[in-house]
Amino acid sequence: MTNQTSRPKVTVCRGIFPEVLAQLESVFDVVHNQQDDVWSAQELIERLQGQDGAFTTGSERISGELLQACPQLKICANMAVGFNNFDLPAMTAAGVQGTNAPDVLTETTADFGFALMMATARRVAESEHFLRAGHWTRWSYDMFCGSDIHGATLGILGMGRIGQAIAKRGFHGFGMKVVYHNRSRLAPDLEASCGAQYVDKATLLAQADHLVLVLPYSAESHHTIGAAELALMKPSATLTNIARGGIVDDAALARALRERQIAAAGLDVFEGEPSVHPDLLNVPNVVLTPHIASATLATRKAMAQLAADNLMRFFASGEVLTPVNTLAAR
Ligand code: DGY
Repeated sequence: MTNQTSRPKVTVCRGIFPEVLAQLESVFDVVHNQQDDVWSAQELIERLQGQDGAFTTGSERISGELLQACPQLKICANMAVGFNNFDLPAMTAAGVQGTNAPDVLTETTADFGFALMMATARRVAESEHFLRAGHWTRWSYDMFCGSDIHGATLGILGMGRIGQAIAKRGFHGFGMKVVYHNRSRLAPDLEASCGAQYVDKATLLAQADHLVLVLPYSAESHHTIGAAELALMKPSATLTNIARGGIVDDAALARALRERQIAAAGLDVFEGEPSVHPDLLNVPNVVLTPHIASATLATRKAMAQLAADNLMRFFASGEVLTPVNTLAAR
């Protein structure tokens, strides 16, 4: 039973589901942010000073500076599969456990990646804006012609769980040829289940009719897609990014879209989000969504529950369900 006088202190950095907050409040002394205020880096430090744990969402940067200022901190539980907001080497050196929220969002995120790719290829947003603006006065033979998904070549960059789930949708559902590139090649049985063929990056860029980015962000993956890579793609190709901002050079992409170097793009993530590069707002052939790939109520609840379970298990037993770093034995 939790001792009232020595309850761990936990900060929940963003607004979360009330029922998840209630679970945390039943075992921890909680500082919460149900108003969902945006905290500056300095405010985040202030809110985490003297705290034992943090419930983070991927928006809060856990930096070396923060860790130095918050020596009591023992765990940061991210409500996101991505954890590029963590300075992981600094956390590990400081003995701070990091956790993420994988698996529970895989199928939902793959659904969205596929939807965004289809919306991009079939010009759903562009044509909707046209209609809402009152420009639709007659049918014409080439109005908003896009490109087919069925039978086309689906290229996937980053073949983790979400990449594989997108590949399965394309291969089994839409009869697509699937090519992929990844740091490591999948085992033959996994490749077969996704109907996917491994190719090098240049081949992927050259062959894909629809390229989907699903790789994690890191210093190495910064601007994986820039002007040089866009130049290798087909003029008829589409690019969909549901991975992370910074993987694509947004200024170079806006230029490529404006000059029709590629046909269209679908973007759920942006460099410096929630700011969006102004040039992307001014090109018609891009579908823009505000980082919602995992946003169904059921999935967001499962992500929040997993982050909360990691915190509760850590303070009850020292174990976590989904660690992203390994700490030296204490
Ligand atoms: C994730 O889980 O990493 C998604 O991008 C939502 O933040």
